[in-house]
Amino acid sequence: MHYDQIVEHGLEVLKGAGIDAKFLNLGSETQSQNRINRQYTDSLTFEMRILGSVVSDTRTKIFGVEIPAPITPAPIISSRILDRLAEQESGMSVKSSADRVYLEEYARGVREAGSVMWWGADSKNEMIERTIKQGTKTIVIVKPMRDKAKAKEIVAWAERIGCIAVGMDIDAMYFEKAFDEDEGPDYLAQQTIEDLKRYREATKLPFIVKGILSAHDAEVAVREISASGLVVSMHGGEAIDYTAPVLKVLPEVRAAVGEGVEVLVDSGFRRGTDVLKALALGADGVCFGSLMVLAFAAYKGDGISGMLKTLYRELQRTMSYTGCKSIDSIDKSIIRPV
Ligand SMILES: Cc1cc2nc3c(=O)[nH]c(=O)nc-3n(C[C@H](O)[C@H](O)[C@H](O)COP(=O)(O)O)c2cc1C
Repeated sequence: MHYDQIVEHGLEVLKGAGIDAKFLNLGSETQSQNRINRQYTDSLTFEMRILGSVVSDTRTKIFGVEIPAPITPAPIISSRILDRLAEQESGMSVKSSADRVYLEEYARGVREAGSVMWWGADSKNEMIERTIKQGTKTIVIVKPMRDKAKAKEIVAWAERIGCIAVGMDIDAMYFEKAFDEDEGPDYLAQQTIEDLKRYREATKLPFIVKGILSAHDAEVAVREISASGLVVSMHGGEAIDYTAPVLKVLPEVRAAVGEGVEVLVDSGFRRGTDVLKALALGADGVCFGSLMVLAFAAYKGDGISGMLKTLYRELQRTMSYTGCKSIDSIDKSIIRPV
């Protein structure tokens, strides 16, 4: 499957269903950070190192699991685009997590591509258990919920059902907001460091703090919460406007936490070249949100696996041209700011 084929067909499907493609571009008010984030990513170019290079090996591990390339979908709990498509197809209204059966098909695509499925979770969702039984390597990112006892229970449940890691998206605790929405939902609430420590202590799994966008938060997450993984992220734009570009903050986060912590990054990633920039600047892996929604709209689970495999190939080709033989051998010397 070709990148443009998936994207163009996805956009056609949205148009045919009367869904405005602007909903793919998150952003809390002005979408400034998505623009600034893209400009920064685009300002980084590569040094070519062709002579003596080989066809690169993109295989790596995250949280102990081998994957074909350091590329996974980002956590997803629901999508209003995919809800609308599902409603139009089935004629039934999608109201709760249990109605979002499309996420089971989404997970099938992830499994087919050998990647790791990340679910956002506000409840113990049977679909997650089922997809794990089918062999999907899974990470659950619990929502920062007002009901903290329930959040803790979901953390412990994630371990019982066989997830490879669990965590929380702290950048949703003051309410997510897309440009055309009021902030919400109400079940989200501020979490203290003590709360996060309690979640961390409720499991032996690697604990991930998602929504890190400063060396300050990275240090606190590791020192006080004992996080074993971080996701540098601005939630695709839904945190606040005018956040610093993720690739600008990433090297500062890596320097703050050293090599012992797994550092993933998301927000604004669209191509394999973007992934190599992130790996060169200190990431262990990159997650894709909006692009996966579009790929799913296009071809369901096959769109997910097709897009992931396309990104693996793009990464491999760019690594080969820049003389990076393996993921471990990538460093920042290949990056040349314009
Ligand atoms: C439809 C959709 C649902 C999402 N749900 C969650 C979620 O439940 N938990 C979470 O941590 N992030 C969630 N996110 C944010 C993504 O995990 C990720 O941070 C963001 O999409 C990355 O930016 P990108 O869309 O530019 O790739 C969601 C994003 C989308 C597009």
